[in-house]
Amino acid sequence: MIMQIREGSGIHVGIIMDGNGRWATRQGLSRVAGHRAGVAAVRRTVESAPELGVRVLTVYAFSEDNWARPSQEVESIFWIIRAFLRLEGERLRKAGVRLEVIGRRDRIPRALLREIQHAEEATAMERTLHLRIAIDYSARSSIADAATAALQHAEGFTAERMRAIITQTLTAQSGDVDLLIRTGGEKRLSDYLLWESAYAELFFTDRMWPEFDRSDLAAAVNEFRRRERRFGAVPAPVPSQLPVAI
Ligand code: IPE
Ligand code: IPE
Ligand code: MG
Repeated sequence: MIMQIREGSGIHVGIIMDGNGRWATRQGLSRVAGHRAGVAAVRRTVESAPELGVRVLTVYAFSEDNWARPSQEVESIFWIIRAFLRLEGERLRKAGVRLEVIGRRDRIPRALLREIQHAEEATAMERTLHLRIAIDYSARSSIADAATAALQHAEGFTAERMRAIITQTLTAQSGDVDLLIRTGGEKRLSDYLLWESAYAELFFTDRMWPEFDRSDLAAAVNEFRRRERRFGAVPAPVPSQLPVAI
């Protein structure tokens, strides 16, 4: 067995849901229509994730750097996320989905914040899938915040201790990312899950996010299962290469 999966669970998949704007523009639609179409792709992905062996799904919905976009697009994205939580929260709960939002909470609209808190409370006991939505998120900020919090009760701090605390803060609930998918054709990380993805397998696809469906997720997971993860060690010997005892 090449792949390492926590027993009785499944893998942690991160997704950079990119390409909404380009997809819409190509169809002669507004960029916001692309973000709306992206919601259906989230639904498809969440529905198919558990049966494909996904235990945790962390999706990138809005980055700290996305504040640089026109305010109308930013407001529409928040509105779309809020509608998703309001309209689908109960369905997610019935499907056993535990919802959690990661990222800053002090700059997003109050109405969205209330919807997030409600959805998180309502689904807190669910265990089929842990869905984490990254909103106003930056991996660098999350690492810096974890380090800053650690320093509050610091005495005789070592780098090793700091590393352990950051790892605990960022991954206690979710574990490291096993597979990181980016749609939309770009091959970059855009400040996403940098600490958690230290040994993630990377999967880039030209499919735009609104086109992403079960078969795309299955293709990524199947590719992941074919990869050999070594975590810095050497490959495990196959039985025929084991030294013969004499
Ligand atoms: C990803 O799609 C969604 C967000 C960043 C909110 P984009 O909006 O970045 O789509 P492209 O990359 O411009 O096509
Ligand atoms: C990353 O996509 C953020 C999300 C998918 C939410 P961007 O479209 O913002 O990333 P860049 O600007 O192409 O790196
Ligand atoms: Mg983009």
